[in-house]
Amino acid sequence: MRVKTFGVSLALGMVISAGAAFAEAGPYSQKQAEDGKTKFNNHCAQCHRPNLAGGTGPALTGDEFKKKWAGKPVAELQTYIHEKMPQNAPGSLGDDQLDPITAFILSKNGVQPGDKDLTKDSSSAQFPK
Ligand code: HEC
Repeated sequence: MRVKTFGVSLALGMVISAGAAFAEAGPYSQKQAEDGKTKFNNHCAQCHRPNLAGGTGPALTGDEFKKKWAGKPVAELQTYIHEKMPQNAPGSLGDDQLDPITAFILSKNGVQPGDKDLTKDSSSAQFPK
């Protein structure tokens, strides 16, 4: 009986820590992030590198990047990207490009996928700490 109780609380603990960043499923779908990867490579990778490690532009993953966006609404990151990126042609890409690209960036920063696509409406979700 004690062993069983331990197992249940352990499982529950794992669920809670996995859901710490987002109480529910993540704000983007796996398929959307995969689509975003191609779009990122076409429009962003020349400066940020395909692995997001940074080149001409800063890294879009790792501690520095996370520290900057942690706890902020994903919408803020989306707005930044919409207004400023790609740096050599801001405003040139529509939501159908930038939403998947943002989903791809989230997937590379430890945000778990869910079953819905990321849109402007869903992005009150917070960037994980
Ligand atoms: C021509 C080079 C270039 C391209 C292409 C480009 N970026 Fe950037 N990006 C930069 C530079 C340089 C910065 C640093 C901010 C600044 O000085 O404007 C930056 C900053 C950023 C930041 C903020 C980083 C931080 O530390 O918070 C994000 C997010 C970002 N870019 C995303 C994108 C996305 C998404 C795309 C593709 C749609 C893209 N960038 C395309 C050069 C580029």
